[in-house]
Amino acid sequence: MLTVVQPDYVIRRAVAREQEAICRLVRGERLNPHHLHFENFAVAVRGDELIGASQIRRHPDGSRELGSVVVARPWRGRGISARIIGTLLKSETGTVYVITRRKHADHYASWGFVAVPPRTAPRAIRFNYRVGSLIGTVMALLQRRPVNRLTILRRPDVQDRSPKMSRHAL
Ligand SMILES: CC(C)(COP(=O)(O)OP(=O)(O)OC[C@H]1O[C@@H](n2cnc3c(N)ncnc32)[C@H](O)[C@@H]1OP(=O)(O)O)[C@@H](O)C(=O)NCCC(=O)NCCS
Repeated sequence: MLTVVQPDYVIRRAVAREQEAICRLVRGERLNPHHLHFENFAVAVRGDELIGASQIRRHPDGSRELGSVVVARPWRGRGISARIIGTLLKSETGTVYVITRRKHADHYASWGFVAVPPRTAPRAIRFNYRVGSLIGTVMALLQRRPVNRLTILRRPDVQDRSPKMSRHAL
Protein backbone atom coordinates (compact mmCIF):
# COMPACT_ATOMS: atom_id res chain seq x y z
CA MET A 1 0.00 0.00 0.00
CA LEU A 2 1.26 3.51 -0.83
CA THR A 3 2.26 5.86 1.98
CA VAL A 4 0.33 9.13 1.65
CA VAL A 5 2.29 12.19 2.75
CA GLN A 6 0.37 15.23 4.02
CA PRO A 7 2.01 18.56 5.01
CA ASP A 8 2.45 17.69 8.70
CA TYR A 9 1.48 14.05 9.09
CA VAL A 10 1.81 10.73 7.31
CA ILE A 11 -0.88 8.11 6.67
CA ARG A 12 0.33 4.53 6.30
CA ARG A 13 -0.15 0.96 7.51
CA ALA A 14 0.54 0.52 11.24
CA VAL A 15 3.70 -1.23 12.46
CA ALA A 16 4.21 -3.50 15.50
CA ARG A 17 5.69 -0.83 17.77
CA GLU A 18 2.42 1.15 17.47
CA GLN A 19 0.27 -1.60 19.00
CA GLU A 20 0.10 0.02 22.45
CA ALA A 21 -0.56 3.53 21.15
CA ILE A 22 -3.39 2.19 18.95
CA CYS A 23 -5.04 0.51 21.96
CA ARG A 24 -4.68 3.70 24.01
CA LEU A 25 -6.23 5.89 21.32
CA VAL A 26 -9.15 3.53 20.59
CA ARG A 27 -9.94 2.67 24.22
CA GLY A 28 -9.58 6.34 25.22
CA GLU A 29 -12.71 7.03 23.14
CA ARG A 30 -14.51 3.99 24.59
CA LEU A 31 -14.81 2.34 21.21
CA ASN A 32 -14.93 -1.49 20.94
CA PRO A 33 -11.79 -2.49 22.93
CA HIS A 34 -11.48 -5.95 21.31
CA HIS A 35 -9.58 -7.21 18.27
CA LEU A 36 -7.13 -4.33 18.07
CA HIS A 37 -4.34 -5.94 16.05
CA PHE A 38 -1.90 -3.50 14.47
CA GLU A 39 -1.75 -5.62 11.28
CA ASN A 40 -5.31 -4.55 10.44
CA PHE A 41 -4.78 -0.82 11.04
CA ALA A 42 -3.89 2.23 9.02
CA VAL A 43 -2.70 5.17 11.07
CA ALA A 44 -1.98 8.90 10.89
CA VAL A 45 1.36 9.76 12.47
CA ARG A 46 3.07 13.05 13.20
CA GLY A 47 6.68 12.43 14.14
CA ASP A 48 6.46 9.77 16.86
CA GLU A 49 2.89 10.70 17.77
CA LEU A 50 -0.06 8.55 16.69
CA ILE A 51 -2.86 11.01 15.90
CA GLY A 52 -5.40 8.78 14.16
CA ALA A 53 -6.27 5.18 13.42
CA SER A 54 -8.81 2.87 11.82
CA GLN A 55 -8.92 -0.80 10.96
CA ILE A 56 -10.60 -3.42 8.83
CA ARG A 57 -11.48 -6.25 11.21
CA ARG A 58 -11.27 -9.72 9.69
CA HIS A 59 -13.89 -11.86 11.39
CA PRO A 60 -13.77 -15.67 11.64
CA ASP A 61 -16.89 -15.91 9.43
CA GLY A 62 -14.95 -14.17 6.64
CA SER A 63 -16.72 -10.83 6.95
CA ARG A 64 -14.83 -7.56 7.09
CA GLU A 65 -15.72 -4.57 9.19
CA LEU A 66 -14.37 -1.05 9.09
CA GLY A 67 -14.00 0.04 12.71
CA SER A 68 -11.96 1.74 15.46
CA VAL A 69 -12.40 5.06 13.61
CA VAL A 70 -10.61 7.58 15.81
CA VAL A 71 -8.61 10.81 15.58
CA ALA A 72 -6.97 12.58 18.53
CA ARG A 73 -9.00 15.61 19.59
CA PRO A 74 -6.60 18.40 18.55
CA TRP A 75 -6.45 16.92 15.05
CA ARG A 76 -10.14 16.55 14.28
CA GLY A 77 -11.97 18.34 11.48
CA ARG A 78 -9.04 18.29 9.02
CA GLY A 79 -10.05 15.28 6.98
CA ILE A 80 -7.59 12.92 8.71
CA SER A 81 -10.21 10.26 9.45
CA ALA A 82 -11.47 10.37 5.85
CA ARG A 83 -7.92 9.87 4.55
CA ILE A 84 -7.24 6.92 6.86
CA ILE A 85 -10.51 5.28 5.79
CA GLY A 86 -9.70 5.95 2.13
CA THR A 87 -6.27 4.35 2.57
CA LEU A 88 -7.80 1.22 4.11
CA LEU A 89 -10.58 0.88 1.54
CA LYS A 90 -8.31 1.37 -1.46
CA SER A 91 -6.99 -2.17 -1.11
CA GLU A 92 -10.32 -3.82 -0.22
CA THR A 93 -11.92 -5.59 -3.17
CA GLY A 94 -14.43 -7.58 -1.07
CA THR A 95 -17.57 -6.54 0.78
CA VAL A 96 -16.94 -4.31 3.81
CA TYR A 97 -19.40 -3.43 6.57
CA VAL A 98 -19.38 -0.58 9.06
CA ILE A 99 -21.54 -0.10 12.14
CA THR A 100 -22.17 3.55 12.87
CA ARG A 101 -24.71 5.96 14.29
CA ARG A 102 -27.67 6.44 11.97
CA LYS A 103 -27.09 10.17 11.86
CA HIS A 104 -23.56 9.53 10.50
CA ALA A 105 -24.56 7.14 7.70
CA ASP A 106 -24.31 9.86 5.03
CA HIS A 107 -20.63 10.33 5.85
CA TYR A 108 -19.92 6.81 4.57
CA ALA A 109 -22.05 7.13 1.41
CA SER A 110 -19.09 8.84 -0.24
CA TRP A 111 -17.25 5.47 -0.28
CA GLY A 112 -20.28 3.57 -1.57
CA PHE A 113 -21.64 2.34 1.78
CA VAL A 114 -25.43 1.90 1.98
CA ALA A 115 -27.66 0.88 4.91
CA VAL A 116 -28.76 -2.76 4.99
CA PRO A 117 -31.23 -4.57 7.27
CA PRO A 118 -29.26 -6.12 10.19
CA ARG A 119 -30.72 -9.57 9.43
CA THR A 120 -28.93 -9.57 6.04
CA ALA A 121 -25.48 -8.94 7.58
CA PRO A 122 -23.03 -11.75 8.43
CA ARG A 123 -23.17 -13.22 11.93
CA ALA A 124 -20.09 -11.40 13.33
CA ILE A 125 -21.36 -8.02 12.12
CA ARG A 126 -24.83 -8.67 13.57
CA PHE A 127 -23.22 -9.63 16.87
CA ASN A 128 -21.18 -6.40 17.09
CA TYR A 129 -24.25 -4.40 16.07
CA ARG A 130 -26.35 -5.95 18.86
CA VAL A 131 -23.64 -5.53 21.50
CA GLY A 132 -23.03 -1.91 20.40
CA SER A 133 -26.76 -1.13 20.43
CA LEU A 134 -27.20 -2.66 23.87
CA ILE A 135 -24.24 -0.84 25.42
CA GLY A 136 -25.28 2.43 23.75
CA THR A 137 -28.82 2.13 25.06
CA VAL A 138 -27.69 1.33 28.62
CA MET A 139 -25.22 4.24 28.62
CA ALA A 140 -27.86 6.64 27.27
CA LEU A 141 -30.34 5.58 29.97
CA LEU A 142 -27.72 5.94 32.72
CA GLN A 143 -26.69 9.36 31.41
CA ARG A 144 -30.32 10.40 30.80
CA ARG A 145 -29.75 11.39 27.20
CA PRO A 146 -31.36 10.30 23.91
CA VAL A 147 -30.24 6.93 22.54
CA ASN A 148 -27.94 7.14 19.51
CA ARG A 149 -29.39 4.50 17.19
CA LEU A 150 -26.90 2.43 15.21
CA THR A 151 -27.10 1.20 11.64
CA ILE A 152 -25.22 -1.35 9.55
CA LEU A 153 -23.79 -0.08 6.27
CA ARG A 154 -22.46 -2.27 3.49
CA ARG A 155 -20.00 -1.54 0.69
CA PRO A 156 -20.40 -4.18 -2.03
CA ASP A 157 -17.48 -6.08 -3.47
CA VAL A 158 -15.68 -4.62 -6.45
CA GLN A 159 -17.81 -6.44 -9.08
CA ASP A 160 -21.04 -5.04 -7.66
CA ARG A 161 -19.78 -1.50 -7.30
CA SER A 162 -20.80 1.10 -9.83
CA PRO A 163 -18.45 4.05 -10.41
CA LYS A 164 -21.35 6.35 -9.56
CA MET A 165 -21.61 4.85 -6.08
CA SER A 166 -18.52 6.47 -4.72
CA ARG A 167 -16.97 9.92 -4.73
CA HIS A 168 -13.79 8.34 -3.35
CA ALA A 169 -11.56 5.82 -5.06
CA LEU A 170 -13.20 2.43 -5.51
C1 LIG B 1 -15.30 10.62 14.23
C2 LIG B 1 -13.85 11.10 14.12
C3 LIG B 1 -12.94 9.93 13.86
C4 LIG B 1 -13.76 12.07 12.93
O1 LIG B 1 -12.38 12.39 12.72
P1 LIG B 1 -11.98 13.64 11.81
O2 LIG B 1 -10.56 13.49 11.38
O3 LIG B 1 -12.33 14.89 12.52
O4 LIG B 1 -12.95 13.44 10.56
P2 LIG B 1 -12.82 14.17 9.18
O5 LIG B 1 -12.13 15.50 9.36
O6 LIG B 1 -12.26 13.25 8.18
O7 LIG B 1 -14.33 14.40 8.82
C5 LIG B 1 -15.06 15.32 9.56
C6 LIG B 1 -16.50 15.22 9.22
O8 LIG B 1 -16.94 13.87 9.04
C7 LIG B 1 -17.73 13.46 10.15
N1 LIG B 1 -17.20 12.15 10.51
C8 LIG B 1 -16.00 11.70 10.28
N2 LIG B 1 -15.89 10.44 10.71
C9 LIG B 1 -17.04 10.09 11.21
C10 LIG B 1 -17.54 8.93 11.80
N3 LIG B 1 -16.82 7.84 11.98
N4 LIG B 1 -18.78 8.92 12.19
C11 LIG B 1 -19.49 10.00 11.99
N5 LIG B 1 -19.11 11.13 11.44
C12 LIG B 1 -17.87 11.18 11.07
C13 LIG B 1 -17.52 14.49 11.20
O9 LIG B 1 -18.65 14.64 12.03
C14 LIG B 1 -17.31 15.74 10.34
O10 LIG B 1 -18.51 16.20 9.79
P3 LIG B 1 -18.68 17.75 9.42
O11 LIG B 1 -17.49 18.13 8.58
O12 LIG B 1 -19.98 17.79 8.68
O13 LIG B 1 -18.70 18.46 10.73
C15 LIG B 1 -13.41 11.85 15.39
O14 LIG B 1 -14.32 12.87 15.66
C16 LIG B 1 -13.30 10.93 16.61
O15 LIG B 1 -12.25 10.34 16.85
N6 LIG B 1 -14.39 10.82 17.40
C17 LIG B 1 -14.41 9.94 18.59
C18 LIG B 1 -14.47 8.48 18.20
C19 LIG B 1 -15.71 8.16 17.40
O16 LIG B 1 -16.82 8.57 17.73
N7 LIG B 1 -15.53 7.39 16.31
C20 LIG B 1 -16.61 7.00 15.44
C21 LIG B 1 -17.08 5.64 15.81
S1 LIG B 1 -18.32 5.12 14.64
